Amino acid sequence: MGTKITAELQQKFRERYGGRAHVYRAPGRVNLIGEHTDYNDGFVMPAAIDFYVWIAIAPRNDRKLLLHSTNFSQTVEIDLQNGVAPRNHWSDYVSGVAVTLERAGHHLQGANLLIHGNVPIGSGLSSSAAIEVASGLALLENSGLAVHRLELVKLCRRAENDFVGARVGIMDQFISGCGQAGHALMLDCRSLEYRLLPLPRDVSLVICNTMVKHELASGEYNTRRAECEEGVRLLSGSLPGIRALRDVSLAELEAHAGTLPEIIYKRCRHVISEDARVTKAAASLEPGDLEAFGALMAESHGSLRDDYEVSCAELDLMVELAVQQEGVYGARMTGGGFGGCTINLVRTDSVSDFQFRVGDAYQKSTGLVPQIFVSPAAEGAGEVKE
Ligand code: GLA
Repeated sequence: MGTKITAELQQKFRERYGGRAHVYRAPGRVNLIGEHTDYNDGFVMPAAIDFYVWIAIAPRNDRKLLLHSTNFSQTVEIDLQNGVAPRNHWSDYVSGVAVTLERAGHHLQGANLLIHGNVPIGSGLSSSAAIEVASGLALLENSGLAVHRLELVKLCRRAENDFVGARVGIMDQFISGCGQAGHALMLDCRSLEYRLLPLPRDVSLVICNTMVKHELASGEYNTRRAECEEGVRLLSGSLPGIRALRDVSLAELEAHAGTLPEIIYKRCRHVISEDARVTKAAASLEPGDLEAFGALMAESHGSLRDDYEVSCAELDLMVELAVQQEGVYGARMTGGGFGGCTINLVRTDSVSDFQFRVGDAYQKSTGLVPQIFVSPAAEGAGEVKE
C-alpha cells in the first residue's frame, strides 16, 4: 500500500507543483492501556498503527509554505516571514509546527507540500499527532536540519498546546515519532524513558470505530486536566512535595479522600489506579499472560466510564459486544473518549468472526455502520523511499 500511495503522491505533486518530492509519513496510534495519565506524569502503553499522514515536499526559493491537502481539496499559503496565526483549520497543525520549530531556533526554508492521510479524523487515533510529526520531519529535512527525534516530538506537542490550543500530553506525538514495528511501548511520561513490549504473534490489534464524536471532547478534555491539577493542589496540603498525581499512591489518596470534593476524588482515583494498571499490564504482557492483560483493560474501561466519565453509550456498547465474542482477551475505549474507537485484543483466528458479529450487532442496535479494522503495530515516522 505504501509504495502505491507514494507513487500517486509523486504524480499529484508533479501535476500541482512540478518536479519531484521527498515523501515522509507519520502514523496514528492506539493506546492499549494508560488513558488520561500522560498529562499527570504517569504511564501509557501506545502502539503506532498502519495508518498514516504522508507529506510530499520540495523546497521553494522564498519563505512561503504552500500546503495542499488531498483530503480536504484545499490549498493554504503561509508566509513564514510575516508571522502566522491560528485559524481553527486543519492547516493549523502544519503552521503551528512550522512556527514552533522557528521559535525554537530552527530556521526553515520555504516549501511546497502535498498532504494526504488515511488516519480517520476525529476518531481518537491521533490524526493530529500524525500530521504534526509528519510536517515537522518534512519541514526540517527539507531545510537540511537534523533534530533529535525526541526534540521533534516535544516541539510537535508544544505546537498543539500553544498554537492549536489543546492541552494534550506527550503520548500521541511520542508514539508517532518513536513507535517500533511489532511493539507497544510502555512510556514513562515524566522521564520519557520507555520499554519495548513485543506483541504476541497470534494476537491482533482490532480497532472498532463507533463513528460518533461528541462535541464535548476538547472542552471536557481541558476540564479533566484542570480537575487533576486541582487534585494535586488540594492533596499537596497533606502530602507536601507532590508534583503530579504520579506521586500519589492509592493508599495515600484514600487516606486523604476527605480533603477532596467527590468529583476531584473520582478523577484522581482513575488516574492513580490507571497508572498502577499500566505497570501490571506490562508485567503480564512480558510472559504473554493475555487473560490478565485483558482483565486490566476491562478495569481501565470501567474506571474511565465511572470515575473519569469520558466514555459514552456507543463506546460502552462496543466494548460490551466485543467481550461477548470468542477469542477476545480484552476491550476498552482508546484515546481521549467521548466517541471514537475501542481497542480490542483478539486471537488472530477469531478476527473475521469478531468483525462480522460485532459490526452486525452494533449496527442493529445503533443504526450506525462501524468501521472495524486490524492493524499491526507499526514503525514511527520516517522518509518513505521508493
Ligand atoms: C488524547 C491526548 C493524549 C492523551 C489521551 C488520553 O489522545 O492527545 O495526550 O491524554 O487523549 O489518554
